[in-house]
Amino acid sequence: MDSLTSRPAFFPMMPADIDEVLSIETHVSAFPWARGHFMDSILGGHSTKICRIGGKLAGYLVVMMAVDEAHLLNIGVDEKFHGQGIGASLLRHAMDIGLNDGMKRLLLEVRPSNAQALALYRHYGFRQIGVRRGYYPASGGQREDALVLTRALEDIFA
Ligand SMILES: CC(C)(COP(=O)(O)OP(=O)(O)OC[C@H]1O[C@@H](n2cnc3c(N)ncnc32)[C@H](O)[C@@H]1OP(=O)(O)O)[C@@H](O)C(=O)NCCC(=O)NCCS
Repeated sequence: MDSLTSRPAFFPMMPADIDEVLSIETHVSAFPWARGHFMDSILGGHSTKICRIGGKLAGYLVVMMAVDEAHLLNIGVDEKFHGQGIGASLLRHAMDIGLNDGMKRLLLEVRPSNAQALALYRHYGFRQIGVRRGYYPASGGQREDALVLTRALEDIFA
């Protein structure tokens, strides 16, 4: 099966998937999540999903539900698949999960320097509602702010 022409398929992330997930996470993130973060997310009952294309792991997401708000904790796409709509598929899937769980909004944090992620979120209707000062570690022991973005979920099928 040709991995570039196959449709993305979503599956629950299992502990046995974490090695594969880490092989992407450590390449696409300067401050990657460790195995324990993914394991805790699975064991803690967060929505943890992987996306495969033709059987090959292309991306993953972690969403936490809190009262009436879904919180996107992590999303990543294998560099080989960047710019092919996989991030968009994952984001839409995160919105579907939140809506199906009765959440009103999807909230996320993003680095101001992460132009690709910001373009993706803005393209899908996310708007900035705040800034968390010094939220992220940055190179040279510095800290970087997080932009807080949110999007209502009731109109995602409109
Ligand atoms: C952010 C990330 C998940 C995007 O994944 P992707 O598969 O490359 O994204 P897509 O191909 O689905 O892009 C979807 C949309 O985002 C926008 N977009 C993505 N890259 C863009 C770019 N370089 N310039 C402008 N718009 C861009 C476009 O609107 C695009 O829609 P289009 O198909 O109409 O062009 C990916 O770059 C990644 O894994 N980055 C590292 C981890 C990370 O930063 N996660 C987010 C933390 S908040």
